[in-house]
Amino acid sequence: MKKTVLVTGGCGFIGVNFVRLLLEDHTDWQVINLDKLTYAGNLQSLKSIEDNSRYTFVRGDICDQELVTSLFTKYQIDTVVHFAAESHVDRSITGPAEFIQTNIVGTFTLLEVAKKQWLQENKSSTGCRFLHVSTDEVYGSLGEEGYFTEKTSYDPRSPYSASKSSSDHLVRAYFHTYGLPILITNCSNNYGPYQFPEKLIPLVLNNALQGKELPVYGDGGNVRDWLYVRDHCEAIARVVEQGTVGQSYNIGGHNEKRNLEVVELLCDMLDEKVGLLKSGEPRRSLITFVKDRLGHDRRYAIDAGKIAEELGWTPKFTFETGMDKTVEWYLENRPWMESVMDGSYTQYYETMYGK
Ligand code: NAD
Ligand code: DAU
Repeated sequence: MKKTVLVTGGCGFIGVNFVRLLLEDHTDWQVINLDKLTYAGNLQSLKSIEDNSRYTFVRGDICDQELVTSLFTKYQIDTVVHFAAESHVDRSITGPAEFIQTNIVGTFTLLEVAKKQWLQENKSSTGCRFLHVSTDEVYGSLGEEGYFTEKTSYDPRSPYSASKSSSDHLVRAYFHTYGLPILITNCSNNYGPYQFPEKLIPLVLNNALQGKELPVYGDGGNVRDWLYVRDHCEAIARVVEQGTVGQSYNIGGHNEKRNLEVVELLCDMLDEKVGLLKSGEPRRSLITFVKDRLGHDRRYAIDAGKIAEELGWTPKFTFETGMDKTVEWYLENRPWMESVMDGSYTQYYETMYGK
């Protein structure tokens, strides 16, 4: 079915993978990518598709109501897939203000515009959908047992997860109060191509290739449920197309791993693919236990039964196949990582849009 989709945050890690998926597999979808290009936005990651006639990039802030309204009017937006956010937990601990602004006020701004455009002024919302991309971190932290379901109570512990929880509540409120056709997805940890190297997997890959220390927080026993990013993007497209309005869907990879296991696996994969360190030592020798993250959630694990049963989505990648693809991608795309590390990735858009 034809759609004109406003993708917010389409220059971030998941957004880039999602825009690419839409242009490859959803050939009747028109994509408008609205991104502020914060440190996490990388326009170069979309260089190969920027001339596609079904794709338009707009640099701007989701908190700018006038701009968002003009985009809805100009492009007749019927679908929103909302990724734009401050996404890194450690940054939310040292500087939460941007998280409140973008994640809460920005989501509120998009909801207000969608409400006005789709529900007021005698307009029809038939076929319109507002999908809010959220996280499993809203549910808090699990003990040794159990899984997060869509019925698990919210219990956010970090400024990041509190800001995402607030935005989820606002999105749900616009459904119950005004009848805005919303959907929410709550996903576990993603990994794959184009991820900013502040997150565990690309950070470890980058440091391990350069023979630098690999910082593991606390005892390394915290558990995350890893999902290959392409699987997440396909799940989002499925929810947009077939999800029941007003509902939430948990998305996860059935891949619970302790952080130390993930770091050790990456070390072993690199030793095998590119050889040992110059010193002749294996990369595991770089592992360094460091001070724990404040309020560090111990375990996340998703029950993704609802999306499997109702929409027929299950992940295609196992942890092994996803990690292999990921490591190969970073090895084949070293200039991408180098330009992020030395900051030169911003030059590409600064020539067009300024700083
Ligand atoms: P990211 O940090 O890589 O990218 C965020 C993007 O949003 C960047 O391109 C940035 O420039 C843009 N942005 C930030 N503030 C903006 C603003 N005010 N206006 C317009 N654009 C703005 O994030 P990600 O890892 O791709 O995550 C995307 C979404 O998915 C987030 O909402 C996050 O909470 C959610 N999520 C992420 C994961 C994960 O593992 N990465 C898992 C579950 C859910
Ligand atoms: O669960 C979904 C969430 O996953 C998303 O909502 C967030 O946007 C995304 O950033 C991610 O959050 P995490 O905090 O789980 O991801 P991160 O990669 O920062 O950390 C993964 C685990 O590794 C976590 O337990 C902290 C630990 N860690 C992280 C870094 C950066 C380390 O031990 N060392 C590190 O250097």
